[in-house]
Amino acid sequence: MCGIVGYVGQKQALPILLDGLMRLEYRGYDSAGFALYSKDHFEIKRNAGPVQGLIDLTQDCGKTETQGIAHTRWATHGAPNETNAHPHRAGEIVLVHNGIIENYSQIKEYLSKEGVQFSSQTDTEVFAQLIEFRRKEIAKKNPTQSAESTLLQSMKKAIDEVEGHYAIVLMALGIPGKLFGIQNGAPLVVSKLKDGALIASDIQAIIPYHNEVCFLPKGEIFIADKDGFHAKGLKFETIDWTADKVEKNGFESFMLKEIFQQPMVVADTLTGRLPLDQKSPFMWDHQKAHEVLWKNVKRLYLVACGTSSHAAMAAKYYFERWARLDCQVDIASEFRYRDPVFEPGTVVGVISQSGETADTLAALRLANDAGASTFSICNVPNSTIARESSFQYPTKAGPEIGVASTKAFTAQLTMLCALALDVGRLRGIQQTKDSAQKSFHGLARLPQDLDQVLSQSEAFIKIGEKLKNQRIILFVGRGTMYPIALEGALKFKELTYLPAEGFAAGELKHGPIAYIDPDVSIITLAPKDEWYSKTISNLEEIRARGGHIIAIGTEGDTEIQKISNEFIGLPKSAWGTQPILSVIPLQLLAYGCAKALGRNIDKPRNLAKSVTVE
Ligand code: G6P
Repeated sequence: MCGIVGYVGQKQALPILLDGLMRLEYRGYDSAGFALYSKDHFEIKRNAGPVQGLIDLTQDCGKTETQGIAHTRWATHGAPNETNAHPHRAGEIVLVHNGIIENYSQIKEYLSKEGVQFSSQTDTEVFAQLIEFRRKEIAKKNPTQSAESTLLQSMKKAIDEVEGHYAIVLMALGIPGKLFGIQNGAPLVVSKLKDGALIASDIQAIIPYHNEVCFLPKGEIFIADKDGFHAKGLKFETIDWTADKVEKNGFESFMLKEIFQQPMVVADTLTGRLPLDQKSPFMWDHQKAHEVLWKNVKRLYLVACGTSSHAAMAAKYYFERWARLDCQVDIASEFRYRDPVFEPGTVVGVISQSGETADTLAALRLANDAGASTFSICNVPNSTIARESSFQYPTKAGPEIGVASTKAFTAQLTMLCALALDVGRLRGIQQTKDSAQKSFHGLARLPQDLDQVLSQSEAFIKIGEKLKNQRIILFVGRGTMYPIALEGALKFKELTYLPAEGFAAGELKHGPIAYIDPDVSIITLAPKDEWYSKTISNLEEIRARGGHIIAIGTEGDTEIQKISNEFIGLPKSAWGTQPILSVIPLQLLAYGCAKALGRNIDKPRNLAKSVTVE
């Protein structure tokens, strides 16, 4: 979603701002713009469409300016056109904004009555106009006060009046060399460079310049100048992400690179944590986890959105089996507005790649406020969700740029598999099925097995290409393969824009079977697990109705090959780790089909990487 970049210092600002915007493109946006502070005026350019379109407008511009703000906008209030693109100018100030101002229409009505004219339909302009209106009022009352004090007072006043979650960065004429802003629920990351101060909504735009960053504390107005940042509570820390991790490194898309990083990501997520004897506890802060979360646990809620919610669904199988724990999975946007029961012993785990998804964050806050014990599984270190949860089990997937999540999902599944095994131990559960011990081994050899699956990538991509003319694609599976089927369908629709649905294999008879014909492809996840024979029966029913079957099974399985049109054989893994292997072909099928259709792989239309509004 929307992205912010700001720079003030001794260098030419424009290239830094444009580079930052390109690095934030992955978040999803539909227009872009920037403002430079140029002697006694602002140079503002905005464009509907890609950042490249904005860059094309910059010949002869920005040669000398060393201060500016820039933005990519994902439309919420008002169409995605140039007029609504940021920055927004109001009198002496120019402003960029992420998030939503919930009471913008009341403020707009009030300001309109006071004679303020608006040129866009955005809530952002309302915020800018309100600050400017208050600035003029205060300046009138205190004409001798400095321009900076007047601006700061007007910002405080306006911030008290607006409701919502947001971040803003602004510049004001008459106050050169300074950027002002605040984060109020939408993150801002800052870094002090040798030659100035850099600010962005997301680490990706900062990492290529410096890896010492500070996530601004909520509710504190900051001032940035060439010497750095001035605000209360700034804590800088070193992030172990490097610039090459946010480059394509020879792959034609970030998504493809991220798919191939999965063996490494899984290894990194487990490194130093998997007990070598595969008997002792996992190596995270055990004492604390036991105290804070698991000692008195009676019920576990796992809450997430999108792909992360599919990881949560798979984890339900793990927690029920190995930890014998009542585990309920919820979509965050539903959970936050329902009336969940938080009895003593309720633990709430939230799962999020970005750690900033608005609904997931709201669900976490609801749980925290209700006194539940909370933990997070996040991929972005120090993200808001990570910081606000009582305990963290971080995934180590590194920066994920492709909007459609791949490596973050496998890292989440890996972490959840390990966690459920561990909780089973902490709770002293006697394992009655051998899946627990085998899954320990499965985790240890997962990177190797993933490599083996990826060695067949060309074949998966080719099968995907052939799907481009199908009327509809169904993804089906049983047990732990059911959430993987849902994830396969989600990947497919995100990337190809074709209709795709995921079903529990046992549900086929309750609806989808009605539309089975040769133009419908059914991608079936049928490893040789405890549900195999049931899934085979379901496949027979599909075959009898002429459906085109692509079976993803265990290598060497000749039975399933006889009843399917195409077969993908995967190495046999343990019950807990088989789902992690099985998602790989689904990612590559979606990729292959999307490529054949000429889709934008890294930035599918209308989607955003980090959904920071409801
Ligand atoms: C967006 C992204 C998805 C992601 C979902 C949840 O829809 O496009 O890839 O799964 O948000 O995001 P989170 O960062 O909370 O995992």
